[in-house]
Amino acid sequence: MQSRNIVFIARSLDGYIADKNGGLDWLNTTPNPDHQDMGYEKFIKSVDAIVMGRTTFETVCSFDIEWPYKIPVFVLSFSLESLPEDYKDKAEIVKGSLSDILEQIHKKGYRQLYIDGGVTVQNFLKEDLIDELIITTIPILLGGGTPLFGELPREMEFEHVESVLYLDALVQDSYRRKR
Ligand SMILES: NC(=O)c1ccc[n+]([C@@H]2O[C@H](COP(=O)([O-])OP(=O)(O)OC[C@H]3O[C@@H](n4cnc5c(N)ncnc54)[C@H](OP(=O)(O)O)[C@@H]3O)[C@@H](O)[C@H]2O)c1
Repeated sequence: MQSRNIVFIARSLDGYIADKNGGLDWLNTTPNPDHQDMGYEKFIKSVDAIVMGRTTFETVCSFDIEWPYKIPVFVLSFSLESLPEDYKDKAEIVKGSLSDILEQIHKKGYRQLYIDGGVTVQNFLKEDLIDELIITTIPILLGGGTPLFGELPREMEFEHVESVLYLDALVQDSYRRKR
């Protein structure tokens, strides 16, 4: 099967994925009485592993919840030598060039990859390694924080796949890279 690298992420109206303090509370500003998952379950069933940046991994670890993933998680980090004891059976550190990392992950049989993080998504985009973008826009201006996108060496065209409105407030746009 063809390999695919997919981003599934939420951003503010002004394009941030975390607020000025690295916080994510603003993700839950829209009332969601029926606990709609904004397509997350369907999406997560469509991928077979997650590649996330070290900051995002640490954010997930800081949540007061059970480990939320049932599929393998690869944590990108140059600085971490090992994962905290509680997470050693849940995730694995990978480092190096993205092409080497992808080769390593593909060899293990994982080809549909959920790419998560800020710097991580930007690094994948810089090397034109993202095939799909699924972006949920939350109607809030944060005025600063961690940007979803950064500078790129060149323009990249995407085709629009669909837009879905959740909770009469959140717009989820899906795009596929035009190659
Ligand atoms: N709104 C959302 O849906 C959403 C989704 C995900 C994350 N977030 C938030 O967004 C923020 C993202 O933080 P961030 O921009 O710092 O990004 P990040 O991608 O989570 O983490 C960046 C780190 O990943 C490591 N890394 C990246 N590329 C690497 C490579 N090729 N090889 C080895 N390591 C590599 C580096 O870790 P080292 O420094 O250890 O080398 C780098 O500092 C967090 O606050 C997170 O909670 C929000």
